[in-house]
Amino acid sequence: MEAFSSKMLLIIFAFSFITHFIQAIERPYQQANTLFIKNSCSSTTYPRLCYTSLVKHADSIQTNHVLLTCTALNVTLASAKSTSAMISTLSKSQGLKPREAAAMKDCVEELSDSVDELRRSIGEMSRLRTSNFELTMSDVQTWVSAALTDESTCTDGFQEVNAPGNVQTTVRGKIVQVAQLTSNALALINKLATSHE
Ligand SMILES: *[C@@H]1O[C@H](CO)[C@@H](O)[C@H](O)[C@H]1NC(C)=O
Repeated sequence: MEAFSSKMLLIIFAFSFITHFIQAIERPYQQANTLFIKNSCSSTTYPRLCYTSLVKHADSIQTNHVLLTCTALNVTLASAKSTSAMISTLSKSQGLKPREAAAMKDCVEELSDSVDELRRSIGEMSRLRTSNFELTMSDVQTWVSAALTDESTCTDGFQEVNAPGNVQTTVRGKIVQVAQLTSNALALINKLATSHE
């Protein structure tokens, strides 16, 4: 029994030593990855949102500009999709004023366009390596700008309401966040486009 527990202790000790050792090796890389995201985000309009939305993916982004940009687009698309679904559900709820219902219906359409445009831009990005860089980046810029325009049109429909807890205020806040993520993605795209010149 004695020998068994001391063996166990030794194994536990060795294991924690190895774990610490691996962490000590990994840490500088993780720091470099998060620092890369922080620096890249500093040139966007909403740097804090940019950082918090991308830092979860630091391990896969590493310090790669293309992966950073693709991840920013993927994060934006996911947010646009979930917001679109949420508004679509809300637009069918009872007790909406006709004006609210109309604004939400328009918004569902505009967000659906914006989801398509973001999808197209992600498709273009995946062809970046095999196609003409300038031409592809220019297409990506066009799609993402169009997505941003559609999202802005959508928030405009809700501008007049300013009561906390109000359905329209909630909806507007969600779309504003999607638009901010899109604006950030566009800034990263513009940066990537000029990095090649
Ligand atoms: C973005 O999403 C596409 C499609 O789901 C996927 O193939 C790609 O690997 C993702 N890119 C990054 C950088 O996460």
